[in-house]
Amino acid sequence: METQKTISTRASIRDFTGEKISDEEIEKLLRAAMAAPSAMNTQPWAFVVVQDKKTLKEIADHPQLHASMAANAGTGILVCEDTDRSYKIYGPQDCAAATENLLLSAHDQSLGAVWTGVDADKANLFRQWCALPDHIQPIAFIPVGVPSGAKEPKEKFDPQKIHRETF
Ligand SMILES: Cc1cc2nc3c(=O)[nH]c(=O)nc-3n(C[C@H](O)[C@H](O)[C@H](O)COP(=O)(O)O)c2cc1C
Repeated sequence: METQKTISTRASIRDFTGEKISDEEIEKLLRAAMAAPSAMNTQPWAFVVVQDKKTLKEIADHPQLHASMAANAGTGILVCEDTDRSYKIYGPQDCAAATENLLLSAHDQSLGAVWTGVDADKANLFRQWCALPDHIQPIAFIPVGVPSGAKEPKEKFDPQKIHRETF
């Protein structure tokens, strides 16, 4: 798929067939994620691939999370910041770039994915589920699977948000 088309046709996918994605597809997702830019090229990311059904169900059912689609997705990828590697305060930005690359790779491979937020309160839940050491900070959890149908992207282009030279 052409890059501009991949970007403009991506949408968050929350409905999945339940079919599991392959290890090759997962490797492609992670190769795309790790191709992201990072401050001082620190590449301060780490990923946990979650496929255990019990864990995915616990994540899906947890009332503090908005990740009910995780169980049916079959795979969830926890994007984490390795705080021992990140430069100044840029680690979360680097991980956000990696996350977007991962979402685009999913769409490019005709998979579905959705970014689910992990804030400070939710981080401890993932810390326990995934046995994260102290220097690994969860940033985003991405359920990925085979989409159960096509989804139209939202139209977001807004010329009013563009300023030239000064605001
Ligand atoms: C930081 C962040 C946190 C998000 N958290 C959730 C979430 O917890 N659950 C969810 O279903 N979607 C979540 N989303 C997805 C947004 O709802 C979605 O990207 C937005 O509605 C735009 O739709 P689109 O991705 O289809 O363009 C999150 C997105 C971002 C960037």
